[in-house]
Amino acid sequence: MASTLVSIIDGRPAEGSPAGTVSSPNPSRLTDLVAEVELADASTFAAACAAAKRAQQLWAGIPAPVRGRVVAAIGRIVEANKESLARLVTRELGKPYREALGEVQEIIDTCDFFLGEGRRLYGQTVPSEMPDKQLFTFRVPVGAVAVVTAGNFPVAVPSWYLVPALVTGNTVVWKPAEYAAASAMALFELIQAAGLPDGVLNIVFADGATTFGGLEQGLRGGTIDKIGFTGSTAVGARIGELAGRHLQVPCLELGGKNPMVVTPSTDIELAVEGALFSGFGTAGQRCTSLGTIIVHESIHDEFLARFAAATSAAPVGDPAQDVLYGPMLDQRFATRFEEYLGWIQVHHKVLGSSGVGKIGPTNPRAGFIGDPEAGLFYHPTIVDGVQPRDALFRQETFGPVVGVTTYTDMQDAIALANAPGYGLSSAIYTNDPREAFEFRRGISAGMVSVNNSTSGAEAHLPFGGNGKSGNGSRQSGIWVLDQFTRWQAMNWDYSGRLQKAQMDVADLTADLSYRLQP
Ligand code: UN1
Repeated sequence: MASTLVSIIDGRPAEGSPAGTVSSPNPSRLTDLVAEVELADASTFAAACAAAKRAQQLWAGIPAPVRGRVVAAIGRIVEANKESLARLVTRELGKPYREALGEVQEIIDTCDFFLGEGRRLYGQTVPSEMPDKQLFTFRVPVGAVAVVTAGNFPVAVPSWYLVPALVTGNTVVWKPAEYAAASAMALFELIQAAGLPDGVLNIVFADGATTFGGLEQGLRGGTIDKIGFTGSTAVGARIGELAGRHLQVPCLELGGKNPMVVTPSTDIELAVEGALFSGFGTAGQRCTSLGTIIVHESIHDEFLARFAAATSAAPVGDPAQDVLYGPMLDQRFATRFEEYLGWIQVHHKVLGSSGVGKIGPTNPRAGFIGDPEAGLFYHPTIVDGVQPRDALFRQETFGPVVGVTTYTDMQDAIALANAPGYGLSSAIYTNDPREAFEFRRGISAGMVSVNNSTSGAEAHLPFGGNGKSGNGSRQSGIWVLDQFTRWQAMNWDYSGRLQKAQMDVADLTADLSYRLQP
């Protein structure tokens, strides 16, 4: 049964849908409508920002340890609803159930990490240059935060923003992807159940253009103090420009063309397993999905043969069953993926399945699980022989396609890995520590895996990218605190007189010409 979802601002449903409605279907069975979503307009978005701004002082005034208890409660409530939230993620986004459970676990892990932050939020006591004076630092919340998220991780990645933002005393307007609206609303409800006052967390459903307009209004009106955005490089660049005009630095988590280097010293089977999981897991629709395999020329043929065999044999289909991957998240990604498949050229060799493109009765996939015609299912595609000038090599291709190329020496491999200009995740398979560290030093990515795939970041290490993958911001772990707090420096002079820094400082005389006797 489909639910009707509306934005919630200041604890109240924003009735009416000034920008129309969209539906969020189950991508593995398109006739199953998960939700009808009433879309807000830009001024409704701006009203949500104003509500968040109004609520912020009150929320920041609640002692941080109490806010930490709220985060603890969110974790426990999500844990108690783990299976039903995961089932909804599987139904709405087509993520295999086991992966959906992992996604929900990532929220719980995030809460477990940050519940203690309410009792830390450490500042420093720092000595002064002068007597009877003390220096301090405090972390202060940034204010009202607008968070715009994608639907490939419809609940885990939003929690990376919401949980640290809330525990540090910020209020939030969350704009999830429309095609992930039901999963987002479920997480919103679970968070609300932890006892947040009205206006502290608001959810707004809107399309991209409207959201951009709402962000402009909020920034102009001074009701947005920070933007968090997960999505494409192109939109991230526009948000960066907009925020920059208001002297703000957004937290941007963008796309990737994540390379995997496979060296001759490695266990090839392990590398194949890693390539399969990160290339085709979530139908290649993770930010951390494998883009290009850069394999040493001496093992190329053996690696490719094994990788193609594993890909051909992998179970694809109904995400409620035990499959490597299910459907595309939404029609928009299916349409775009078909364009990417158009980038395959005559010098490429295609492997990995019994066809290319959409799976169906005239283009079947051997061993498909379920009814391919019911949803947005695509063949896994390996494209061997990609070259640096190819679009398939240079651009992110959100979907189940992996390029393969070869290298001769490690510097060559690093240059190929960096060439597309992204820099989110990367991997090297090697048993030579020198190669592992040479790769780590040379790779431009924010994340480096050794003998592990490009996907599967843990929730307490910094997550983020460089170049076209982001502006250097990092989420998760202690590092995200710098996104949602600013340092305030305080000095307190209790000497009763004006002591001037750099001028009224005691000077002990040193004999700099002093030398030990030979
Ligand atoms: C994303 O694709 O935006 O490392 C997040 C991973 C997951 C998170 C991915 N833990 O693949």
